[in-house]
Amino acid sequence: MNKIIENTKLSASVLKMVVEAPVIAQKRKAGQFIILKIDEQGERIPLTIVDSDTKIGTITIIYQIVGKTTAQLAMLKAGDVLQDLLGPLGNPTEIGNYGRVVCIGGGVGIGVVYPLAVALKKAGNRVISILGVRSKNLLILEKEMRENSDTMIITTDDGSYGIHGFVSSVFQVGMIDQGIKVDRVYAVGPVPMMNAVCRITKPHGIKTIVSLNSIMVDGTGMCGACRVSVGGKTKLACVDGPEFDGHEVDFKLLSNRLKMYCEPEKEAYEKHRCGCDGN
Ligand code: FAD
Ligand code: FES
Ligand code: MG
Repeated sequence: MNKIIENTKLSASVLKMVVEAPVIAQKRKAGQFIILKIDEQGERIPLTIVDSDTKIGTITIIYQIVGKTTAQLAMLKAGDVLQDLLGPLGNPTEIGNYGRVVCIGGGVGIGVVYPLAVALKKAGNRVISILGVRSKNLLILEKEMRENSDTMIITTDDGSYGIHGFVSSVFQVGMIDQGIKVDRVYAVGPVPMMNAVCRITKPHGIKTIVSLNSIMVDGTGMCGACRVSVGGKTKLACVDGPEFDGHEVDFKLLSNRLKMYCEPEKEAYEKHRCGCDGN
């Protein structure tokens, strides 16, 4: 059982939860995640560890309401408890001093990019962050990302804030086409966005790391639910990843596998919203 310390809204559909987990807080490194279960009947879902406080023994997660479990999570209050929290899981991000690194985050992927930007800045890199959201009211962690970036660019799909457009086109036009040397790229967000960034960097041979959000159940390499294809080989995102060389990832397969349970997921969310499932 893990006690919730805080569960507050960051934007229209994204919340930040601080939860007691002293052992995970001590051990976790940038790039790792937890698998949580709200209650006995609940499903297991993976969420990235965005931050931790080793003094008070808490971890921070940031999540977007997209379906039943994340909607249930959003209803919890400080003082409530989570049934189960497993972690830290996955391999930590390989952090070095590479030179000029570009951290690209889309939507709730900004929460996943944030600990990477912190670690990369600490390691002496020049960090350029490009953050993209559909609209200004969905932007999260702006202040925190600015504090850990040498340069920060914000894009919105509707032009309500920052540059009107997608992160990938801003990266292409504003950096690659200008001949700005980029030593490494980290891209986390929707699959089409990560794919687009990889298509831009591949011809230039710029190493690009992506964090894959494949469906996970146990998170420990036992169930095979999270399998992805990287460099023509089957990998398990939970134990071999979640980060991979983006130039090697089969994004089409990832995208198809993410849609596998769309119908039952939609049904479960509808039942939850109308209160027909008793949860
Ligand atoms: P559902 O309606 O059940 O599903 C909506 C969509 O979410 C599905 O179509 C599918 O694409 C995806 N999904 C559903 N179940 C799972 C599952 N068990 N595992 C993975 N994806 C699933 N989201 C965040 O908002 N913040 C994060 O920090 C974050 N970190 C992640 C880290 C990893 C390593 C992975 C693999 C995923 C991460 N996700 C994160 C995605 C998050 O796990 C899903 O949004 C969540 O499980 C959706 O659950 P749901 O019941 O609310 O939605
Ligand atoms: Fe089961 Fe990765 S989640 S093998
Ligand atoms: Mg679900």
